[in-house]
Amino acid sequence: MKILAIDTSCDDTSAALIAENRVLSNIISSQDAIHSRYGGIVPEIASRTHFLNIAATAKRALSEADVSFDDIDKIAVTKGPGLLGSLLVGLSYAKGLAYRFKKRLIGINHLEGHLYAPFIEKEVKYPFIGLVVSGGHTSIYKVLGNEKIELLGTTRDDAAGECLDKTARLWNLGYPGGKAIDRVAAKGDPGRFSFPRTALADGSFSFSGLKTAAIMFSKKYSDKIKDMMPDVAASFLEAVVDTLVIGAVAACKAEKIELLAVSGGVSANRRLRTKLSAACRENGIELLMPEARFTTDNAAMIGFVASMKGYDKNWTRLNASAVASI
Ligand SMILES: Nc1ncnc2c1ncn2[C@@H]1O[C@H](COP(=O)(O)OP(=O)(O)OP(=O)(O)O)[C@@H](O)[C@H]1O
Ligand SMILES: [Mg+2]
Repeated sequence: MKILAIDTSCDDTSAALIAENRVLSNIISSQDAIHSRYGGIVPEIASRTHFLNIAATAKRALSEADVSFDDIDKIAVTKGPGLLGSLLVGLSYAKGLAYRFKKRLIGINHLEGHLYAPFIEKEVKYPFIGLVVSGGHTSIYKVLGNEKIELLGTTRDDAAGECLDKTARLWNLGYPGGKAIDRVAAKGDPGRFSFPRTALADGSFSFSGLKTAAIMFSKKYSDKIKDMMPDVAASFLEAVVDTLVIGAVAACKAEKIELLAVSGGVSANRRLRTKLSAACRENGIELLMPEARFTTDNAAMIGFVASMKGYDKNWTRLNASAVASI
């Protein structure tokens, strides 16, 4: 089964070719250089850039995998959640291909893609607890089987990635912010300053208070924050990491599930990986995290989920949704 997968949910144009659980190609055309000028994603520019890039990205995914449009068995495309204008570019292109080449089409939820990314090119094992920690989401799921997914908790306000991005912007650390904080924090002392960890009894997350704490900190130390930045960034990141580690381990214990799969852009973070590994070892939990290339948005994860599903019979009526939940 050869699947051409497309993801244009946010600001990366991605196309991948999946064949029998192998990733033959996974092309990501990043828009970071364009949006970094503005310090964040400009939705209208993102969708226009997808429009310019999508055909060449899909063709490159096929040529790298040495597969032609005629050889494809199924097309998979992200239908949501994400930026509506961006999603519509990928969906319209996929529909055009399905019509032109008479192929089956399936719409895939972007978060389900992230959720299963740690299992790409591996066997999926159930049950597992999935922590999706990305630019727009911080959610914990209990996954008992294919499409047997229960949301246990999510953020009440900002996502962890959003909190990192906005704070990095406040501190002029670079773009994308999570990656920049990862880099600067590596040289700092995470124990020097204390930032708040929010632990909510119902298993949900909250990161807006931490963002406010960063603003207050900046005001208090405005004259010397620049010189202390590695320690400040490391201490701030530590609060984000601890919150995620505590939440994920608590969910595994509460549900008596010994497999944790962590995914999304923030799962690329080195400190998070180190602390999650230690906490899971201590608590007898098996930990799975995606390869770096499958952490941020990528079409391979969309194709991988599609390989576990059929196709949409009424694909011509498939629509994009900015807020689709799993
Ligand atoms: N090394 C890193 N450390 C921490 N955060 C990181 C790192 N690399 C990327 N990120 C963060 O990951 C996020 C992007 O991840 P991803 O592409 O999965 O999210 P998204 O697609 O924007 O959001 P969503 O998937 O929720 O719609 C950004 O917030 C970015 O700062
Ligand atoms: Mg994403």
